Amino acid sequence: MTAVLVAYAGKTGGTREIAEVIAVVLREHGLDARVRDAADVTGVEEYSAVVLGSALYFHRWRPEAVRLLEHNVEALTRRPVWLFHSGPCGPGASTARVSLPARVALLAARIDAERTATFGGRLDPGRARGIVARLLSSGRMAGDFRDWDRIRAWARDVGRRVRTRVPL
Ligand SMILES: Cc1cc2nc3c(=O)[nH]c(=O)nc-3n(C[C@H](O)[C@H](O)[C@H](O)COP(=O)(O)O)c2cc1C
Repeated sequence: MTAVLVAYAGKTGGTREIAEVIAVVLREHGLDARVRDAADVTGVEEYSAVVLGSALYFHRWRPEAVRLLEHNVEALTRRPVWLFHSGPCGPGASTARVSLPARVALLAARIDAERTATFGGRLDPGRARGIVARLLSSGRMAGDFRDWDRIRAWARDVGRRVRTRVPL
C-alpha cells in the first residue's frame, strides 16, 4: 500500500486534528496515511507522498514544520507534496486565504509543492497560554473555525491525485 506522510505542527491540537481527518480521508482512498508530529519526522524516504500542515502564529509557520521542509528538500523534490496552514479565526475565517510566509514560500517553490490550502483555525479560551493568546481568544475571534467539509473535500482531491501520480 502507498505510504503517505501527514505531518503537522501546532501548539494547541487544532492542526493535529485537521491532519487526523485528512489521514482518515486518504485511507478511504486506499492509502496508508500516517499522521506524525513534524518534530518527530527524521526523513521522508519511506513515503511516496507528503502532506504537511502548520498552524500560523504571528504570520509564521511553526519551526518544526519549517525544519521538516529545510532538512528534506532533496527527498521532497522527488515526491508530490501538499501543504496547508490553519489559522484564520473570526468572521470570514472559512473563506480567508493566507499566503505562505516568505521563507516557506521559497522552500515550497524549491520542492515544487502543490498550491497551499488555508483552513480556518480554532481559538479556544480554555487552551490559551500567554497574554496575546488570551486576548485573541476572548473576543470575536474565539471559536472553532475549521470547516470540516472543506478539509475533507481537499483531502479527497489529494487522495485522488496521489492515486494518479504514484505507482501503487
Ligand atoms: C498568539 C497567537 C497568534 C496567532 N497568529 C495567527 C496569525 O498570524 N495568522 C493566523 O491566521 N492565525 C493566527 N493565530 C490563530 C492560530 O493559528 C489558530 O488558533 C490555530 O488553529 C492554532 O492551531 P494549533 O491548535 O494547532 O496550535 C494565532 C493564535 C494565537 C493564539
